[in-house]
Amino acid sequence: MADRHALVTGACKGLGQYLAARLADEHWSVVGVGRCPADQVPPVPGVTYLQADLALPRTPADLSARLDSAPHLVVHCAAAYPAARPSGPALPDMEEVFRVNALNPYLLTLDLLARKPPDRFCSYVVVNSESIYSADRHSAIYAASKAALRVLTAGLAAGCRSAEASVSTLLLGPLADRAKLAEIETVAERRSLPPAEVVRLFLRRSNPNLVIDEFIDYESCFRSVRYLAELGPTANGMLCKLDGGSSGSLV
Ligand SMILES: NC(=O)c1ccc[n+]([C@@H]2O[C@H](COP(=O)([O-])OP(=O)(O)OC[C@H]3O[C@@H](n4cnc5c(N)ncnc54)[C@H](OP(=O)(O)O)[C@@H]3O)[C@@H](O)[C@H]2O)c1
Repeated sequence: MADRHALVTGACKGLGQYLAARLADEHWSVVGVGRCPADQVPPVPGVTYLQADLALPRTPADLSARLDSAPHLVVHCAAAYPAARPSGPALPDMEEVFRVNALNPYLLTLDLLARKPPDRFCSYVVVNSESIYSADRHSAIYAASKAALRVLTAGLAAGCRSAEASVSTLLLGPLADRAKLAEIETVAERRSLPPAEVVRLFLRRSNPNLVIDEFIDYESCFRSVRYLAELGPTANGMLCKLDGGSSGSLV
């Protein structure tokens, strides 16, 4: 099975790093893309790291030209967040967030589709966020970029009909990432509470619309990516929501 090629963006850290390593565990040959220099990324067997800045206009074309093999699976996981500035949002920051989160994943997918051998099936899994349903003044720019990504993804799926490709969305709720877990540990120690109880209280307060008591774990995200890839053409246009039920009963 070593001839299955995957491309994962956002592979320096967090979920992207985890997905790249888990795909390699399962004998995928993985190219992990990230912004940080290669010497700052711990080597993972089976993962070849490529440094690329998805905020730059030329990156989608450059990146797809640098790949030795056309991928069978692409996971768009990179995400940028606007800097918090006392003076309020700045247009260049907003543009960068939209380029990394929406415009360049879209252009990269179009470029990869154009270069794909016609008989090579490829699954494109686009990681999105439940924040698109419940933006507030702090998350609005990030959420708007992810909402744009969601719409662009639907357009890609429409273009993939009969194209030996599927484009699906994996829409996630709050992840058990390192920063949140560290914060939970600190609060748990300060209040002498079990960390699981702090998570439960945190989720009830910060995301009252969610119906989960735990953060979403990386392994569940990996299993969802694998499921979307295994579905093949049936996954085209699919929205897989691992989001804590945030968008209510009718969506
Ligand atoms: N964390 C959550 O609770 C949550 C919830 C719902 C959905 N999600 C989604 O899940 C995905 C993973 O989230 P995460 O929390 O694991 O993210 P993360 O830890 O912040 O990692 C983001 C990754 O994207 C890379 N990146 C940022 N700007 C880039 C650029 N200009 N060019 C190339 N790469 C760039 C980062 O590289 P550097 O390390 O070099 O910055 C990093 O590898 C994202 O799509 C996010 O929207 C996350």
